[in-house]
Amino acid sequence: MSELKNDRFLRALMKQPVDTTPIWIMRQAGRYLPEYREVRAKAGGFMDLCENADLACEVTMQPLERYDLDAAILFSDILTIPDAMGLGLYFAEGEGPKFERPLKTLADVQKIAIPDPEDELRYVMNAVRTIRKELNGKVPLIGFSGSPWTLATYMVEGGTTKDFGKVKGMMFSNPQAMHLLLDKLAQSVTSYLNAQIAAGAQAVMVFDTWGGVLSDEKYEEFSLRYMQQIVSGLTREADGRKVPVTLFTKGGGRWLEKMAATGCDALGLDWTQDISQARQRVGDAVALQGNMDPSVLYAEPEVIKSEAKKVLDGFGEGPGHIFNLGHGIHQHIDPDKVNVLVDSVHEYGKTS
Ligand code: CP3
Repeated sequence: MSELKNDRFLRALMKQPVDTTPIWIMRQAGRYLPEYREVRAKAGGFMDLCENADLACEVTMQPLERYDLDAAILFSDILTIPDAMGLGLYFAEGEGPKFERPLKTLADVQKIAIPDPEDELRYVMNAVRTIRKELNGKVPLIGFSGSPWTLATYMVEGGTTKDFGKVKGMMFSNPQAMHLLLDKLAQSVTSYLNAQIAAGAQAVMVFDTWGGVLSDEKYEEFSLRYMQQIVSGLTREADGRKVPVTLFTKGGGRWLEKMAATGCDALGLDWTQDISQARQRVGDAVALQGNMDPSVLYAEPEVIKSEAKKVLDGFGEGPGHIFNLGHGIHQHIDPDKVNVLVDSVHEYGKTS
């Protein structure tokens, strides 16, 4: 494998000194980019993009051609695992992801099997291998998965939800079924991420988008415990380098210490958390990734620069910060605004 030319991102994750703050952006390849919309229209649908290694590679590279980003992220989706479990993923126009066969009962949960990442999910591993080759050491490649709890919400609800009635209903009335599902998902995520690492992913991130809707007690029992199981089962070194793992619970500000205690290397922060307070709470244990409000990118360049500076100043001096938005970039953002952000983080990050 080729030598890594820019390892700022990996160094920051390990809390090693860097020349300036590294930055990447959640959902950096996506609908806000006209070149993405073009490839997606040609491919037919979103999953057609994910299932074709050359197209997945092409869209992964698009933001790197426009911006001086310090990491690439595999173009795929968290819902590949439930799809491989046979739930029948489809995207209804304007409605987000849906499943043809959501899980309703313990018997449904008992029937699902743990997918073999080099079989049902081989298309993802092929994308990882293709992207690593194409990157040729330019920047590191991030692999990812959803957390068991977040995947379970889609699998039980059958799609996006506002009240989490079905999945919380199962959690309260049939905890045995929920724990069986979460354990199967934790095993699946562990082997999926380890296969991504074997295929060439140089860091991995677990997206717990919906952990924040749980109470303290339920978060520990139904989300954190299974992320802990994953962290404990991951390959932590490959090609003579550490493979850092980042946990991101959106709305998880209450639980930073507990998340850090899983043994992960970094925590993703959403924008509702104060990064300087977060650092005081956990800074020695883990690196921090985040956390500018994605909506700042609707504002003019001066505002973007001053808000970025606030995040950098908030983290303060010393290593262990990876700049990012507090959640994915919105689809109506002007792509030129991202240049303003990336360049100002690199410029101002030199002194902080
Ligand atoms: O960050 C990246 O650039 C990598 C690609 C990536 C996608 N999804 C591509 C995608 C990643 C890391 C994800 C993760 C993901 N997917 C999460 C966790 C992160 C988060 O945002 O909280 C979740 C909850 C999903 C599930 C999902 N996939 C939803 C809710 C949607 C619909 C979004 C919408 O606005 O319609 C998707 C589809 C999806 N995944 C798109 C992209 C670029 C849009 C597909 C399209 O229409 O082209």
